[in-house]
Amino acid sequence: MKKTVIVTGGAGYIGSTLVRLLLDRGYSVKVVDRFFFGKESLADVWDQIEPIKTDIRDVRQEVFEGVYAVMDLAALSNDPAGELDPQKTLDINYLGRVRVAHLAKRAGVKRYVLASSCSVYGFQDGWLDETSPVNPLTTYAEANILAERGVLPLADESFVVTALRQATVFGYSYRMRFDLVVNDMTGSLFTKGKVVMISDGEPWRPFVHVKDTARAFIEVIEADAKKVNGEVFNVGDNSLNIQIKDVAKAVGRVLGREGDIEIGGVPDHRSYKVKFDKINRVLGYKTQYSLEDGIMDVWNALKEGKTSYDDPKVRTVNWYRYLLESKKLVDEVAYRGEIL
Ligand SMILES: NC(=O)c1ccc[n+]([C@@H]2O[C@H](COP(=O)([O-])OP(=O)(O)OC[C@H]3O[C@@H](n4cnc5c(N)ncnc54)[C@H](O)[C@@H]3O)[C@@H](O)[C@H]2O)c1
Repeated sequence: MKKTVIVTGGAGYIGSTLVRLLLDRGYSVKVVDRFFFGKESLADVWDQIEPIKTDIRDVRQEVFEGVYAVMDLAALSNDPAGELDPQKTLDINYLGRVRVAHLAKRAGVKRYVLASSCSVYGFQDGWLDETSPVNPLTTYAEANILAERGVLPLADESFVVTALRQATVFGYSYRMRFDLVVNDMTGSLFTKGKVVMISDGEPWRPFVHVKDTARAFIEVIEADAKKVNGEVFNVGDNSLNIQIKDVAKAVGRVLGREGDIEIGGVPDHRSYKVKFDKINRVLGYKTQYSLEDGIMDVWNALKEGKTSYDDPKVRTVNWYRYLLESKKLVDEVAYRGEIL
């Protein structure tokens, strides 16, 4: 019998790629999502999934009955969106996800994977790994740490819990995000004919392709429980720590448009570099897609009209600001602050 996996946030940028990978691997998939960015990202697989339109702060325990694994991706998904209403960010990204983990455990789910972020490290000199101190600089990063601390202690022999600290993601997906730097630069070159950076682009950042980070969730639920239970893994590859100015240069080089890349002079030293040795050592996980692959697939998606740089939904913070101001991000949920 097919195992069932719930993907919260399954209509999102990473989720919509992950749902397809799970279907390809023979899982039954339920998607728990408010569909803030619409349902189009799952249009061609809609008949193959069980969509559940609900808030993670409101989802009922019955939804988790008979489910093998939960991949918990629903969140206000970046730093600026997290600052629009910090309390809402904590309610959803921290308490909402801890609530999901509790409900999953009570319902007898075997595996739970939290979508966390390398942003928990903040800006720090030197190389960072899972043993490094965290340094949350935003509500979004703080909520990720609190969520990790809320879900990891639930791990026991019958409930395997893992947190994945994903690098900054790039590449085409079915709900597109042009607020992510690689995608933004590629979209800007395609749409405006140039990339203009105000800063000097010196900062280092860790990156990972959307298909690679999605695959990590599957590798975790298929791994020997002893290797992943109660563990935190960074998801990415050491070679994908790249300076922002080199991302811009790569966009120009890959697309044969070096002359259209302008790197500014304003100094920016807010760097961090992350090691990904643990996931490689423990799970044998290796990324399969390069920065160049991601640039090309975003470019081709734009050329084929699969996405548009001008679509208001592709900039996460702008879209959430619009939802908040037009009162569409209302909190008509039963849950009011308690974990259960
Ligand atoms: N994209 C990245 O670079 C990146 C990097 C590190 C970590 N992450 C984390 O990975 C996860 C997925 O990110 P993404 O880029 O796919 O984001 P996304 O914004 O594209 O997707 C998030 C999805 O969650 C849904 N959602 C939001 N709040 C909800 C709620 N209260 N109840 C139900 N559904 C809700 C949205 O409708 C959306 O479909 C997030 O937790 C994010 O913080 C992303």
